[in-house]
Amino acid sequence: MSERSRRSRFDGRVVLVTGAAGGIGLATARAFAGEGASVVLADRDRERVFAASEGIRDHGGEATAATVDVTDPDSVGDMVTAAVDAYGGLHIAVNNAGIPSAIGGAFEDIDVDDWRQLIDTNLTGTFLCMRAEVPALRAAGGTAIVNTASIQSLVAAPGMPAYIASKHGVAGLTKAAALDLIASGIRVNAVAPGFIETPMLTPVIADPGIRSSLESTAPIGRIGSPDEVAQAILFLASDAAAYIVGTLLSVDGGLAVL
Ligand code: NAI
Repeated sequence: MSERSRRSRFDGRVVLVTGAAGGIGLATARAFAGEGASVVLADRDRERVFAASEGIRDHGGEATAATVDVTDPDSVGDMVTAAVDAYGGLHIAVNNAGIPSAIGGAFEDIDVDDWRQLIDTNLTGTFLCMRAEVPALRAAGGTAIVNTASIQSLVAAPGMPAYIASKHGVAGLTKAAALDLIASGIRVNAVAPGFIETPMLTPVIADPGIRSSLESTAPIGRIGSPDEVAQAILFLASDAAAYIVGTLLSVDGGLAVL
């Protein structure tokens, strides 16, 4: 594919990305904008998400921002309306907002409020976004939803059952929605990142011992970058993935095959 056609892969497409104030979401928004899309960046962090969209515009991209709390159906509805109002429709949605859990502690001491917050954000938040996006995608002839799952949608790890349950839920939701929506021409898929250097992982890898342990656990021998996940999201959203439906694409340096 030539540079020219790569750059215009998403020309004329309107893309909504949640959790776009930083990390994987921001890298994804930048990548779509760099390839011709008009991008709506949504996040609960108003200041950072508006600065992020301004940064994209400063580099010649087309972008706007919206605040959203993905756990709130009304807020999610307003986000989709804002996206449609901004650019006249919606063609691609990336549901990426998420929170990590504390690691460790006894299973029987899991706080019910913490459990609910994890499930509400990572799983119910993804569902609420998809539910609100589908009518807008149908109306505009939209073609793809990509969710951010996790290596922890495929395998478990000790000390973080709520996060793992939420991300296994995203995997199931992705497959179920893929079947329900394919007749409408909407392909639903997910990426399953491993260890990626984002604000979510920063406090964990600030400890050099933990950083080197994560690096050596990944068969590729390093932590991944948000841009590497973004490229997988763009692929799943592109026409090159026209026959890919309901899959989880691992972007994990080989972790899932260990
Ligand atoms: P991040 O913390 O930079 O990005 C998450 C974004 O979601 C933040 O900007 C945050 O403000 C936003 N957010 C959280 N709750 C929200 C809510 N209720 N409403 C709206 N926005 C909300 O972290 P990262 O790593 O970029 O995370 C993106 C996704 O990738 C998450 O779903 C995460 O679980 C997933 N992931 C990350 C991995 C990593 O190693 N960094 C590995 C596997 C999955």
